[in-house]
Amino acid sequence: MAHHFTILTISHALLLLFPLALSYGHSNACRSYCGNLTIDHPFALRSGCGHPGFRDLLFCINDVLMFHISSGSYRVLDIDYAYHSVTLHDPHMSTCDTIELGSHGNGFAVEKWRAPYLNPTADNVFLLLGCSAQSSLFQGFPGKHLPCRNVSGMGCEEYYRCPAWSQIGLNRVGATYGTGPPECCAVQFESIKAVNLSRLDCQGYSSAYNLAPLRVDGPGQWSYGIRVRYSVQANSDSYCKACESTGGSCGYDLDGFNELCMCGTWNSTSNCDTGNLIKLVIWIMGFQPG
Ligand SMILES: *[C@@H]1O[C@H](CO)[C@@H](O)[C@H](O)[C@H]1NC(C)=O
Ligand SMILES: *[C@@H]1O[C@H](CO)[C@@H](O)[C@H](O)[C@H]1NC(C)=O
Ligand SMILES: *[C@@H]1O[C@H](CO)[C@@H](O)[C@H](O)[C@H]1NC(C)=O
Ligand SMILES: *[C@@H]1O[C@H](CO)[C@@H](O)[C@H](O)[C@H]1NC(C)=O
Repeated sequence: MAHHFTILTISHALLLLFPLALSYGHSNACRSYCGNLTIDHPFALRSGCGHPGFRDLLFCINDVLMFHISSGSYRVLDIDYAYHSVTLHDPHMSTCDTIELGSHGNGFAVEKWRAPYLNPTADNVFLLLGCSAQSSLFQGFPGKHLPCRNVSGMGCEEYYRCPAWSQIGLNRVGATYGTGPPECCAVQFESIKAVNLSRLDCQGYSSAYNLAPLRVDGPGQWSYGIRVRYSVQANSDSYCKACESTGGSCGYDLDGFNELCMCGTWNSTSNCDTGNLIKLVIWIMGFQPG
């Protein structure tokens, strides 16, 4: 009798484990690739996958990963999962080789609801070019201090040494703090919260970041692009780890944008073991001798 019960127990346990094993097979349901970039949590290309703060953000077009926010579309050059950052390229951004005026650049501004999740890093400098004297950047000038400063060893004094300035005429560089607003003003994102060229009344911008622990030599060596830090709350991070460690994929429901753990054939509000555990408990209770 006891022997019979053991065999039943084992076969039932196997039946219970079977869907669990199946769900493990779906563990990478939300991971995807675009060109040579891996798109993983909190990002995703499929809607319903990833963290809701990053929904409708990334698009893969002909193997080029595009990042779309309210200020425009950018090409994603890199996603650094270890440092929680994304590097973006705006084709209308000035670099050391070309200066593009005419306010075609995107700048950088995100939707209000997305603001907690995406912020350019503290070591990223925005070089605002050709801003008018009426720009809010210079309000109170010359009495008040300008927000312009060097960021992470990068600033306008050095940027003026770029060959691109000679293309647009050196006289543009003439303006100094004494006579009017400077032709270039370097700021950290934190000090202005949004790089909106039309609102700031600027004609162009450049953006660079410095990954090296040491100062790099000259603006020709800077890395041009926008380095954005992405963040998810710690509780959401541990929620996802628990989900993935039980074979699930982190996602959210499309109605309320609440986080979900997708377990292959079903969705859990916690992780993929919970449901199986409940089934197991119900099954064991059903076996209690009456
Ligand atoms: C991805 O490909 C681009 C060129 O298309 C290259 O510049 C970049 O270094 C590659 N990135 C990785 C991580 O291999
Ligand atoms: C930039 O500023 C302009 C004018 O103030 C405004 O109409 C536009 O919506 C802003 N763009 C973004 C992306 O916030
Ligand atoms: C920025 O750094 C340069 C040297 O690279 C220096 O000449 C300049 O005074 C600094 N500017 C500010 C605002 O600190
Ligand atoms: C689980 O949630 C995802 C994302 O909202 C949805 O696409 C999928 O249909 C759901 N699956 C089930 C079995 O309900």
